[in-house]
Amino acid sequence: MSTGPVPRVDPAWAWRPPRSGASVTLKLDANEGPVPDGDAVLGRLRETGPDVWRRYPDASALEAALASRFGLPDECVLVTAGADEAIDRCCRAYLAPGLALVMPDPTFEMLDRYAALAGAAVRRVPWRPGPFPRQGIMGALGEDTGIVAVVSPNNPTGEVATPDDLRAVASAAPNALVLLASWCCARSPRRADSPEAGSATPSAPRR
Ligand SMILES: Cc1ncc(COP(=O)(O)O)c(C=O)c1O
Repeated sequence: MSTGPVPRVDPAWAWRPPRSGASVTLKLDANEGPVPDGDAVLGRLRETGPDVWRRYPDASALEAALASRFGLPDECVLVTAGADEAIDRCCRAYLAPGLALVMPDPTFEMLDRYAALAGAAVRRVPWRPGPFPRQGIMGALGEDTGIVAVVSPNNPTGEVATPDDLRAVASAAPNALVLLASWCCARSPRRADSPEAGSATPSAPRR
């Protein structure tokens, strides 16, 4: 019997922060904001008191407030440490060896990595500039589809999937999780004011 780390992911393929080489302080592509006002941050931390620094965070009050704001049961809201944690949790919950993630290509670069960590296969459908490849995605669905991932506005292209696209995919894959991610990148200059961008489903994972 072998011991040691499981070679589930090729180390050569491990994610590394992209290095653009450009001299910028606001890294929008890395979700990094401008340099914060250090004094203000430290002042706020002082006001909150030591319990906030030394205990594991409890997001239940925030989850309840969000649930009430959106008219959802509390158990339908989960606050995570970034969208990446939510995507990882969905992949662990809905994927396994023998199952597949279906996603457009290109799309958010971490999706296929989380699928690989869950031991699942990845099926890619080209998303050329233009509408969401609804027919291609539906053609790639199968019995083994655990998740269909839709990022809208898409990262890195800014292309948008419409609510009708989501409804069509969800009804074609009734047993799969339709994982809708984004709005962290909704400030795409070309698309942010489109009606689709304003009315798409919020980024919570949905069936
Ligand atoms: C679709 C999508 N999901 C998740 C993330 C990562 O988000 P976070 O930094 O909140 O983990 C990004 C970052 O660009 C993204 O484009």
